[in-house]
Amino acid sequence: MSLTKKIGDARLTYDGCDYNIPVLEGTEGERALDIQSLRKNTGLVTFDPGMVNTGVGESNITFVDGNKGILRYRGYDIEDLAEHCSFLEVAYLLVHGFLPTPSEYNAFSTQMNLHSMLHENMRNFFALYPDHAHPMAILSAMVVSLSTFYPELETEMTEAIDITVARLLSKLRTIAAFSYKKYMGHPIVYPRSDLRYCENFLNMMFRTPVNDYVPDPVVTRALNQLLILHADHEQNCSTSVVRAVGSSRANLYASISAGVCALWGPLHGGANQKVLEVLEDAIKTGTSPKALVERAKDKSSNFRLFGFGHRVYKTYDPRARVASKICKQVISHASGKDDPLLDYAQELEATAMADSYFQDRHLYPNVDFYTGLAYRAMGIPVNMFTVMFAIGRLPGWIAQWLEQRDDEIQRIVRPRQVYVGPESRTVAETISQKPYKE
Ligand code: SDX
Repeated sequence: MSLTKKIGDARLTYDGCDYNIPVLEGTEGERALDIQSLRKNTGLVTFDPGMVNTGVGESNITFVDGNKGILRYRGYDIEDLAEHCSFLEVAYLLVHGFLPTPSEYNAFSTQMNLHSMLHENMRNFFALYPDHAHPMAILSAMVVSLSTFYPELETEMTEAIDITVARLLSKLRTIAAFSYKKYMGHPIVYPRSDLRYCENFLNMMFRTPVNDYVPDPVVTRALNQLLILHADHEQNCSTSVVRAVGSSRANLYASISAGVCALWGPLHGGANQKVLEVLEDAIKTGTSPKALVERAKDKSSNFRLFGFGHRVYKTYDPRARVASKICKQVISHASGKDDPLLDYAQELEATAMADSYFQDRHLYPNVDFYTGLAYRAMGIPVNMFTVMFAIGRLPGWIAQWLEQRDDEIQRIVRPRQVYVGPESRTVAETISQKPYKE
């Protein structure tokens, strides 16, 4: 049952006819034209490359106000959640719709421990990848491979879904840590039942036979907050992919694996890796922030200032503000002194924000601008940054997939197009141009 309310009609006059198009309004005042009957009534489709202006459905998970810089998960401001919750509590909130009671949290945490191991056959997969394999490729392949070990998800049973959610949230973290160990050439470290979600991850990442690693509470808290910042973001590219794959009734593992691939792109989650690469290269080559900004403005350069700009935020991304604070905390805690990369990033931000090209286009720092610097200060290598984004985004992907599956007005995703290719023709009339006969 649709939860938006109709507040009136828009009028479309086309080909001598008038059409009433219902105007819908959501709980935060967002308005939409309901064009579900447009093609049936007028023969027209809408033209909207990148779906910049297209709402794909109703959602009660995440609200973003791009002009005011507001981000809320299930009604809670991101700043409030990052300050007062753990990542696992926020994951529970996104998937179930409410924050867990202490007993619900403990049951969820127990599920995380129960399902943190990988099947030993899967452990062997890691040895078969080349040493330089990008962890995002491994992550996507491993996630879809989980479906071969747990085929029960092919049914629609609710309990299968609950276990699958726990398995995915817990095992994705293990897969990420194992892929880091492979990259480092270190023996893997199994998850432990006495550590909480982020501590377990850090332990699997950094413990070695000669380093009796103990997770640092400041780093553990910062990691919880960074993962919370990434946990959902309404209909972003990778979430749209997860929903589209789920709309064909493909299973949750397949849908999440597709989302990992979409997130990998440098215009999306891959931007946090690109930010670090650009900053490191700029310092190595002595490129000033001003010169970098000028390059980003030069259309012929095809260069973008990664970590800047956003499809929705036309003001400061609220996540970037929180990430910037976390970044400074972790850097000063880890090294006790300034980090030249952070100094450069802050100068670059100030230079870009003072430039009319960025001001006119409402280009501000987004979630990716500072998060990589914080991960780097934790000892996480650049090629793992987008994997960290995926760990954070997983509960949002799952929540959106479940919402799409349970929404009775949703159908298989199948957009239309405007064809501009060759008109009808036959092989016979063009056969003379064929260079060969089979
Ligand atoms: C994420 O959608 C989400 O919610 C995503 C995300 C999430 O949580 O899931 O928030 C995570 O993906 C954050 C974005 C990470 N990507 C980057 O940092 C890559 C750099 N930024 C861009 O490429 C760009 O800003 C996008 C992709 C983020 C948004 O692109 P849009 O909305 O399609 O905007 P656009 O490309 O049409 O740009 C509008 C104008 C253009 O100039 P004009 O043609 O008007 O002259 O702004 C310019 C662009 O050239 N522009 C930039 C720029 N971003 C936009 N110019 C230089 N540097 C940039 N970063």
